[in-house]
Amino acid sequence: MEFKDFKELAKVRESCRDYDADREVEIEKIEACLETMKLAPSACNAQPYYYYIVHGDDAKNISKYFQLGKMNSFAKDISAFAIVTEENYNLSAKIGSSVKNQDYKSIDIGISAAYFTAEATSLGLSTCIMGWFDEEKLQKFLKTKSRIRLVIAIGYAKTDDLREKKRKTSDALYKIISEEL
Ligand SMILES: Cc1cc2nc3c(=O)[nH]c(=O)nc-3n(C[C@H](O)[C@H](O)[C@H](O)COP(=O)(O)O)c2cc1C
Repeated sequence: MEFKDFKELAKVRESCRDYDADREVEIEKIEACLETMKLAPSACNAQPYYYYIVHGDDAKNISKYFQLGKMNSFAKDISAFAIVTEENYNLSAKIGSSVKNQDYKSIDIGISAAYFTAEATSLGLSTCIMGWFDEEKLQKFLKTKSRIRLVIAIGYAKTDDLREKKRKTSDALYKIISEEL
């Protein structure tokens, strides 16, 4: 089966830092993002993550946990956050990770967040994956001892304007190894 639209989606997904504070995200749309996140691949299918959705007044209350000066100041306008914790491997992922000395959990969490944010984009939502947050305060808020690895801000952008994508050159990012080599 062939899908031709993914690149278009990738082009319009961007980390939004200017949200419409008066527009709440519909919970059904967040559920749709979570259901797509469930389709993400993971090492040995271990799915070593958990998504907490915090919205409404609770989102307003925790928005200070992401801000440092200007950094993540947009969080004050966010009506919903997905807080992603790191959970256990299953046995085969645990063994594989140890034998191969690979951190599959971080990889799996990143892929799941990519699925979540791609679905959000397809539904007209804007997101920003955040790696800067007060982990201890969030753990206390959620009453969990699990490590918090990512937070995804979810909302509606103030405008449809997109920034130009800044990326390394193709040479710096990939090489197609040819048979002559
Ligand atoms: C793991 C991770 C952590 C990030 N943390 C933050 C953050 O705390 N605040 C922020 O504004 N953007 C954050 N970003 C967004 C990146 O800055 C952004 O993805 C990158 O500059 C590329 O821009 P684009 O997402 O708009 O294409 C993070 C992205 C990732 C994947």
